[in-house]
Parts: sequence; C-alpha cells; structure tokens
Amino acid sequence: MRYLCKSILLAVHTILLTCSAQEPDKYALLHVVALDEPSLNLIKQLQLNDYKYDLDFWKSPSSISDKADIMVKRGKPERMLRQILSFSNVTVSMSVPDVEKLIMRNEGTTSKSRLLGSFMKWLHDDPILDSEPDLDLSKVGELKKAKYPFGDYASYADMVKYMRTIEFYYPRIAKIVRIGATHEGKPIEGLKIGAMSSKRKRAIWVDGNIHAREWASSHTALFFINQLVSGYGKDPQITHYVDSLDFYIVPCLNPDGYEYTRSSPIPSVRLWRKNRSPEVCRPSLWGGEKCCQGVDLNRNFRFHWAERGSSYEPCSNIYHGEEVFSEPETKSVRNFLNAPEMKDRVDAFVTLHSYAQLWIYPYSHEEQNYPEDIGELRKTARKAINRLSRVYGTSYRMGTGADTLSPAAGGSDDWAKSALNVKYVYLIELRPQMELSNGFILHKKELIPTAVETFEGFREVVDAVLVLNNSTSSANRKTISDLQMRKQQYRMRILASQAAATTRISTSSKSPSTTSTTTTTTRAKPSSTSTTSTTSTTSTTSTTTTEVVTKPRRHFDRFTSDASSSTRARPTPPMAPPTMTASTESASTTEVEDISGVPSSSMASRSTTYGFYTATKPSAFLDPECRDMRYSCGFWLKNNKQVCDEQQSFMRAQCAYTCKFCTSFIKRH
Ligand code: ARG
Ligand code: ZN
Repeated sequence: MRYLCKSILLAVHTILLTCSAQEPDKYALLHVVALDEPSLNLIKQLQLNDYKYDLDFWKSPSSISDKADIMVKRGKPERMLRQILSFSNVTVSMSVPDVEKLIMRNEGTTSKSRLLGSFMKWLHDDPILDSEPDLDLSKVGELKKAKYPFGDYASYADMVKYMRTIEFYYPRIAKIVRIGATHEGKPIEGLKIGAMSSKRKRAIWVDGNIHAREWASSHTALFFINQLVSGYGKDPQITHYVDSLDFYIVPCLNPDGYEYTRSSPIPSVRLWRKNRSPEVCRPSLWGGEKCCQGVDLNRNFRFHWAERGSSYEPCSNIYHGEEVFSEPETKSVRNFLNAPEMKDRVDAFVTLHSYAQLWIYPYSHEEQNYPEDIGELRKTARKAINRLSRVYGTSYRMGTGADTLSPAAGGSDDWAKSALNVKYVYLIELRPQMELSNGFILHKKELIPTAVETFEGFREVVDAVLVLNNSTSSANRKTISDLQMRKQQYRMRILASQAAATTRISTSSKSPSTTSTTTTTTRAKPSSTSTTSTTSTTSTTSTTTTEVVTKPRRHFDRFTSDASSSTRARPTPPMAPPTMTASTESASTTEVEDISGVPSSSMASRSTTYGFYTATKPSAFLDPECRDMRYSCGFWLKNNKQVCDEQQSFMRAQCAYTCKFCTSFIKRH
C-alpha cells in the first residue's frame, strides 16, 4: 500500500513539474477527511512530503474520519492535490477559498498597505477596525504604568518593551530573564514573577509562540503576566501564587519567526511555522540542489528526536534540524532550565500553541505511551478544562498529542517531562476548535476571551503545584472545604436514598428489622441532640428505625430528600428548588468524611422521595462532555411528571443525554 501511495505521488509530482505556468499567489484551505486506512496513510505520506507539493498542513489527521486542514496554492497545485486525493477514499471540502482575505478580515489588515509596499503597516492601518476595537477590557487587570495593547496583535518589540516596563515599575516582584538570543540576534526575553523569599521557591514555566504563526499564544502568555502582576496585593489568591512561587514566563520563544510572519499578509509568510535559521541545501531528485530555511523548534528537543512526525528534509514544515538542540532557541530553553538556579525546582511546564482546543499531556511521540503519573496529570487537566469551560463555555479535549493529533517526536513538552522530570507538563492548543475553519487566523476580538479562559484553566495547574508543595492559601482552603462539604452532602444523599429505598421495601413487605439498625431522632426545633455531627439540622420530630442494607448505589437528585441534611446554604440551582415541607426533611448523624470515603457513622433518615433517581454512576459526571443538568432536570420532573412525555425530545437531549435522567425515569414509570 505504501508503495502504491509513493508511486501515485511520484507520477503526480512529475506532472506538476512539467506544468510550470505561473498562478497568482492565492491560497486555499481544504478540509480533507480520510474514510479508510489506505486513504489515511496517503494523507500522512503527503504530510511527510509537504515540501514537494507546496502543501502546508495546518492540522494533521489523527485517525479515520478525523479532519486534516491543508493549505495549498490555488490553481495547479490545488488541482494536483485534488487529483492525488481522487485516487483514494476521502472527502475534500473547501474551507477557506482565499486565506489572505481571511487574514485581512481577522487581523485587521488592508490590501492598500500591501500596494503601498509598507508591510509593517498592514497590521495597524485599517481606520474602521482600528477605531472600533469592541474589546471587553474589563477582565484585563489594570497596570497603571505598563501598557500592552491586549486585544490586538503586537510586535515582538512591543512585548519586550511591556515586560521591561513592568520590571521597572514592579521591581519587587518582576525581573527580566534573558534566556538567550535567536539566529538573527534578537534577545529571547521573559519575566520572572515572584516575591522575594529567603527560601528556594518552587517554579512554574510558561512559554508561547515556539511556532511562529501561532500568534494567540504569545498574547495569552502576556496576559498571564498582566494578571499576575496586576493581581498582586489585590487578589488574595494571586498574591498567594506570587508569594509562594516563581513564574518564568517567556511569551515568544521564536521572535525571528514571529516577526517574519508579521512582515506580510501573504499566506506563505503569515503562516510560517519554523524559526529563521539559515538555509540548508540538499541534492534535488531532479538534479541541482534545493535549499530551505528554518527548523521546526518543536521537533528539535531531545526526546525520541527525529523519530515519528518529523522530517529530515530542510524544506519540510516539520524539519527537525541537523541535530538535536541544533537551534539557538531550543538550546536557550535547555540551558536556562538546566542551570543551577532552575535545576529541580520546576513543578509545571506549560507551553502555549494554537489551535484545536486541546489540553495535551505527555507523551506525544507515539500513541498510547504515558508517564507513570499520568493519573495525576489527567486529573489536573480535567479540572483545568472544566474550569476553563465555565468561563465562556469553550470546550476542550484532553489527551496526548499522539492520541489527539498525531505522533510527533522531539517536542519540548515531552523533553520537560522526561529530561527535567517536571510534574505537571501541558501543551495547550488554544482556540479555535478544530472544526472551525479559521485555524491560526484567530479574529482579534477573540484574543482576550481566549486569554481569560486559558488563565482560568492555568490556575488549576498552579493550585495543583501548591497542593503538591503543601502550600494552600486560606482562600484556596476555603474552596477546597466547600468542595468537601458538597461532596459530603452528595454522599449523604446517596445514603439517604439507600435508606429511603429500604424503608419503602420494608414498609411494603415487613416490619422494620432490628438488624443493623441506626436510630435517629429528629426534632421540630433547632436541635442539640443526637449528633457528633458538624451538620446538625432543623426538622420535624419523629423517630424512625431504618434498616441500612448494602444495595447497588443509586444516584439521587438533590431535591429528593436532603433538604435539611446540612446547615450550610445549598448552592443555588439553575432554577429555585421547590420548598420542602417539614415532612420531607430528615436528620442526619454523620462525621466529616474523607472526600473519597464513606461517612464513618451510619446515617438514617425518613424521607419522602420523589423517585427521580437514576442508575447513572457518579463517575459519569466526570466526563467533561457531560453537562450536569441534574438540578434542572430534577426540578422539571418534580413539578411536572408528564414532562418526559410532553417534551420527549427536549428531555432526551437535555436530561437523558447528560444524566440518563429521563430515560431511567421513563423506564421506571
Ligand atoms: N501541534 C503541536 C506540534 O506539532 C503538537 C505537539 C504535541 N507534543 C509533541 N511533543 N509532539 O508541535
Ligand atoms: Zn504549535
């Protein structure tokens, strides 16, 4: 099969070379989906031969039915590509017919400036877009003295100026770090943010723009800087972060490449990915030699270097370089993080990329290869993407790069995990999601929201590092104890449901058993009775003897039976819950429990249940795809038991999909 692919490619390549008529420099973005294994192999072969066909893979396909985004010149190259693909079982759709137009529209450019030849002006010369920024700056922390044009794309010089100004005005917490210089001699600078301490502090590394065209990544890293500096002394949690940790944030690891991509809106320039290292020549198949510039910096690190998903061909977009760490940019990162000042004190390594909305953890050089602490990496990643999505509803997926995109060796993330032994290593592919067509050309109006939500996700990583080092702020402790309390309430409801179910069984079949019983006294006025509990209650007087039996656990909606199981105010549900009558209330005797355990003393209750339970395992709710609609669903069902029949499709989609609520309800009734 591989041989057949290669023969097809060779034949078409020959035709391509004989048709050398000049086409205008217009580029299209095609979505290509392989429908079977041979077609997927063909697409992967095409990616490895990208330089021969002048193809730019914005995104490689991970599997059958997963989309590849391929940028190609309009005219003959596009026709050739389509011809190659016509030999296989793929669908091809036109995603962006004119990439340059998209660049102009989303990044605020005009062709006027190109005509004038003033390339550097093209980013800032549109009177309409420039005067109408439509930015929500309310979420951008205010730094009185240092200004950065958040919500817009800026030059590397602007980034450096901003960081140096911060250093000047906030010397107690900010210090410029120069980790090295590029091929062209630009300094690679970042900021160390951390309050002075007599102790050797643990550290967090963040970088962006290792790939030149991924502009949203440096903007996001600069936003992190802005939030940490502006929040210090104002926001207790941020203050705690900066007091306890040192953040090393290098927003742009590839300034040569970045500035090159800013120099023109022509897609072959704007979409440059590599650095700008000098040309390397190789003998051409057709005689003579072919020379190309640039190395893919994220294939140049020492981790299975030059293996899968990278190329020996200097003209390829995924060229891994002449040797491992051949590039000044990657050497700078290596040397900085291996220096005595940094050695063994980095607990998180976060590298920002775009696009696809993925929270990637190691390893990415081959499928299904994970570090031994993968469980912890996943747990924090899951929390991060959940927290991120709570801001604007943006949905991320998580996994290794190899499992979610395709294998690629020599990445900085994998190197940080394996060589530096950093605990929390994440590569974040920012907006937009894969399914949307704009890819790297993120509209500038999305820059701030992208940065805001990513910072929220990042905070989970910082929190994990603090927990790792037993340094949790009081603000954090409060959140954690709230969480424990909610989990405790949840478990109490499960127990209550077991007890209630047993009560129903008992009353219908036999009198209460005296085996394994717990007696609970409940009272009509505030009680001081009966508990070792931290959650004593106000409720009706009654005494119930209830059998507690071990049964498969059922998941109970919060409106079923536990209105008074805690003195704490319950979080407000999406719709106000109906008022519980006294008869529905129950008292509980419980001890504060370990969040993963079962209360150590039994709890019994007498309760009126509504039967809105499901057999759904609680773990199902860990799935980030599963929107937790239990509370709304419970409310609707409770107030209108016909709703499943009357609003079948809505309830199936909104309730059954998320929590199997309605289906189990329908089944039971
Ligand atoms: N899009 C990223 C790249 O191509 C994904 C990298 C995932 N990590 C890795 N080590 N391959 O560089
Ligand atoms: Zn990238």
